[in-house]
Amino acid sequence: MRLNAYLARAGVASRRQADELISAGRVRVNGERGQLNTVVASRDVVEVDGRRVAPQRLAYVLLHKPAGVVTTARDPHGRPTVVELVGRPERVVPVGRLDADTTGAILLTNDGRLAHRLAHPRYGVPKVYEAEVEGSPRKEAVAALREGVELDDAVTAPADIRVLRRRAGSTLLELTLHEGRKHQVKRMCAAVGHPVRQLHRSRYAGLELGDLAPGNWRELTPGEVAVLRRVTGLE
Ligand code: URA
Repeated sequence: MRLNAYLARAGVASRRQADELISAGRVRVNGERGQLNTVVASRDVVEVDGRRVAPQRLAYVLLHKPAGVVTTARDPHGRPTVVELVGRPERVVPVGRLDADTTGAILLTNDGRLAHRLAHPRYGVPKVYEAEVEGSPRKEAVAALREGVELDDAVTAPADIRVLRRRAGSTLLELTLHEGRKHQVKRMCAAVGHPVRQLHRSRYAGLELGDLAPGNWRELTPGEVAVLRRVTGLE
């Protein structure tokens, strides 16, 4: 494993920050100064500022994110983060992003390889959202969401859309997307004239929240991890 990946797995820093520690000469491998291209195995002794570090076990957590919590590592406005909410000793980080006001399923892990693949458009991991939108979308608007909507960056990929409920003044839509662009659901719905009032992600990559209350989390089962590895071609 590359030294920066080893340090990330040890919970010392992100890979990029690890590169800075290595370049600053603060990392030693078997007593020698570590280099950016140093490769380490489990028998090697790695020290940062003279303190021995070792990789942590891989952890996979599904959180029911409440509103008002951010998915970035730190928030300039001091709002709580998903990482603080989970409070794991392993350095788990969120896979992808949800807006601060979006609730629902978010995966956190320290398995960088899996996280990278889950976030990669190539694997088209399904994300299921329930969006309460303004008004009552007509057939044409639903078809546009399904077939592709022109956004500033590009046309959206085909999506599965279901109308779950119509109420006076609002409609609950279920959108299954296989891509994950910034504010995608909000931008898609606004583009067809039905701005989102509330957004919830009910499923991520086949993982369901079940009866997890907002703010609660659970570890994935080994079976769930195996499925994620399979759908991303790691097994
Ligand atoms: N799309 C959005 O607009 N916001 C989210 O948080 C997730 C998907």
